[in-house]
Amino acid sequence: MGKKAVMSVSIDQRASFEAIRYARAWEDADVLLSGFHARPGQRFLSICAAGDNVLALLLLDPQEIVAADLSAAQIACLQLRMAAFRTLSHNEFLELFGARASSRRDLLLARALQDCDPETRSLWQSLAPEVEKYGAGNVGKFEAYFRHFRRFILPLIHSGSTVESVFAERDRPARERFFEDRWNNRRWNLCTSLFFSKTVMGWLGRDPAFFDHVDGSAGAHVRRKVRFAAVDQDPSQNPYMLEILTGRGGDVLPTAWRAENYATIAARLDRISLVKGPIDQAGEGVFDGFNLSDIFEYMSLEETAEIYGKLLERAAPGARFIYWNMMAPRSAPQDLQHRVKRLPDVEAGLKQLDKAFFYSDLVLEEVAD
Ligand SMILES: C[S@@+](CC[C@H](N)C(=O)[O-])C[C@H]1O[C@@H](n2cnc3c(N)ncnc32)[C@H](O)[C@@H]1O
Repeated sequence: MGKKAVMSVSIDQRASFEAIRYARAWEDADVLLSGFHARPGQRFLSICAAGDNVLALLLLDPQEIVAADLSAAQIACLQLRMAAFRTLSHNEFLELFGARASSRRDLLLARALQDCDPETRSLWQSLAPEVEKYGAGNVGKFEAYFRHFRRFILPLIHSGSTVESVFAERDRPARERFFEDRWNNRRWNLCTSLFFSKTVMGWLGRDPAFFDHVDGSAGAHVRRKVRFAAVDQDPSQNPYMLEILTGRGGDVLPTAWRAENYATIAARLDRISLVKGPIDQAGEGVFDGFNLSDIFEYMSLEETAEIYGKLLERAAPGARFIYWNMMAPRSAPQDLQHRVKRLPDVEAGLKQLDKAFFYSDLVLEEVAD
């Protein structure tokens, strides 16, 4: 086996991908779309994950999006979404995916699955009880992890009314007072240290292999980030925070789930090509934009350098790479830095707006002309 193949499958060998890990995107597509230097007719290479951000990229009016994932279960998340866009109304879509209460998710799921391939159908049929209970956007390991947090940990820290009060509309000084007076207590500090320890996160949500390259205390990181999202940003406008703390959708939705985007996305679904496999080997030709999720964070520096180099070979002049880091610092490898330019000013502006507040870094790099 060549070195290329060894590097590409190494994360696959360490982590198990049989289950759905992320049943919805935990990255803010508003930021993603603003970060690309987009013109109609471009080609994008994107990590699939749950598929929400692939769908959001259609709003840039691309010629094609190649969406790749190592995990068949993640590809099935996008397949179900595409079928739902084709067969359900917007409200039905929100019900099926758990952003609205529903007593008929079984029927909505059955309708959407009629439009799916047998593999996708059988995966989602096996998940039907969970879909009925939580919605198709809440059945991943990561969402289960937040559910455990809401059920067992959050009530030890704050009352339901304090949690609900986070989402009241306030100006910045009032948000700061609320945070310091009501949220930031000793139980918050203690419980976040325990719950976000690498051991517990490994058990409940993230595969422990993903922590091989992560330094620092996850609890302290989470506390800093929550303060930013609760005080510097406006939590009443944050769908990710609402979902994490309350488990319900509100009027504020992620990009691909908004009513005003539904018809446009539905009309452009045939521009998506799905590939199960490593992103560096997916699709043909060159791309103008790369949505790389936070894949480099799960790789060693050597793997990052190798995969980054391969993606760079497939970049059109002026193409942009966009990716996040949760805790491990990742950016263009040193020996390739002369071929890309990092865009710190654009990054700084977007970081202020990034509603998926838990990442420590957002990286935008532009390929030299
Ligand atoms: C990196 S994960 C993170 C998702 C996101 N940060 C979140 O919290 O929802 C996103 C997806 O990338 C996929 N993935 C990781 N490395 C990959 C690679 N080299 N090629 C294709 N897919 C990859 C995983 O299977 C997963 O579905």
